[in-house]
Amino acid sequence: MQMKHLKLASFAAFAACTLAACAPSGSFTPGAVWEDNNGVHINAHGGGILYDDGIYYWFGEHKTEGKAGNVANVGVHCYSSSDLYHWKDEGIALSVMPEGSGSDIEKGCILERPKVIKNEKTGKYVMWFHLESKGRGYDGNSKSGVAVSDKVTGPYTFLHTIRPNAGHWPLNVQPCHLSGKIQIPEGYGFSGGNLPMHADTMNILGRDMQGGQMARDMNLFVDDDGKAYHIYSSEENSTLHISRLNDDYTGCSGEYIRAFVGRFMEAPAMFKKDGKYYLMMSGCSGWAPNEARSAVADAIFGDWKELGNPCLGDDVETTFHSQSTYIFPVQGTNKFIYMGDRWTPQNAIDGRYIWLPVEFTNEKFTLQWQNEWQIKGSFALKGH
Ligand code: DGJ
Repeated sequence: MQMKHLKLASFAAFAACTLAACAPSGSFTPGAVWEDNNGVHINAHGGGILYDDGIYYWFGEHKTEGKAGNVANVGVHCYSSSDLYHWKDEGIALSVMPEGSGSDIEKGCILERPKVIKNEKTGKYVMWFHLESKGRGYDGNSKSGVAVSDKVTGPYTFLHTIRPNAGHWPLNVQPCHLSGKIQIPEGYGFSGGNLPMHADTMNILGRDMQGGQMARDMNLFVDDDGKAYHIYSSEENSTLHISRLNDDYTGCSGEYIRAFVGRFMEAPAMFKKDGKYYLMMSGCSGWAPNEARSAVADAIFGDWKELGNPCLGDDVETTFHSQSTYIFPVQGTNKFIYMGDRWTPQNAIDGRYIWLPVEFTNEKFTLQWQNEWQIKGSFALKGH
């Protein structure tokens, strides 16, 4: 019955907009509580969007109350929408395993920034996320988790955890890595910036070559040719890796590059417009926001050119109090939307979402704060 009403409402909105050539009903109010179809604040942090068969799906970390809610107590939450303003709760797509189960995704682990892509060849939906074993904080094992499902909303079955690209050197490996010399001072703690020497000569890459590379903040990107990529903060967060997945998207191909060496980039969000690849990233300052970075390349494996902070106006040194998590195209338009998180670590469940329109000038993209905004122009709507 409820579905029937939703369908009628979507059709009515579509018909009204088509007839009157107006913007769809609804708007984005960045930073405000964003209620789902049940009137509950959307719980999908560090999230991403998958567009599948006319519907947008938003996957993100389900947080719980208080400080204790920063770890994974529940799993990955999924919502669906046909217009991007109104979201229907589709439930938990991937559940954490019970305490004491010994599973890699046991309740209390760190499971962050889940992203889902569809493999058109296998028909499977594949989820990747940053995973740290329970009780070990971020010094756990800096791995990636992979889960799959036949149905977009899940349930997803946990497949494995991996340290990417074990046994493979990147395409742009340097002689200092191949030398085998590792120069990391005894007991040295990586603080998120200012390496005492150049990241290349420390050779964190070489240290992890056999066992696989560290992978923390991450994202996925599927190119027009169906090749998928895993983009992750590696080498103690100092350097970003862009790594091609294997054909079924559940593992690594062994083909990857290092980018922004020693620049400590987190929160990578990749998108493609008019044949150019773009990245938005943050620096490393925990849950506290910092100044965003951006970059462009003609090919996914580079060369990547940094373009600086894409934000304009007030509060740009904190990315409008947010950290990037995803940038995606609005179907049927040439518009892109920035998705960021305004983290609230004291009460994790209250984290807010900052969605802003992405503008383009020459080869750069920019973001400007909006109190309230809509997607203007043609817009694909499909009832569900
Ligand atoms: C910044 C990362 O971007 C987040 O995903 C999270 O890992 C926090 N650090 C934890 O401090």
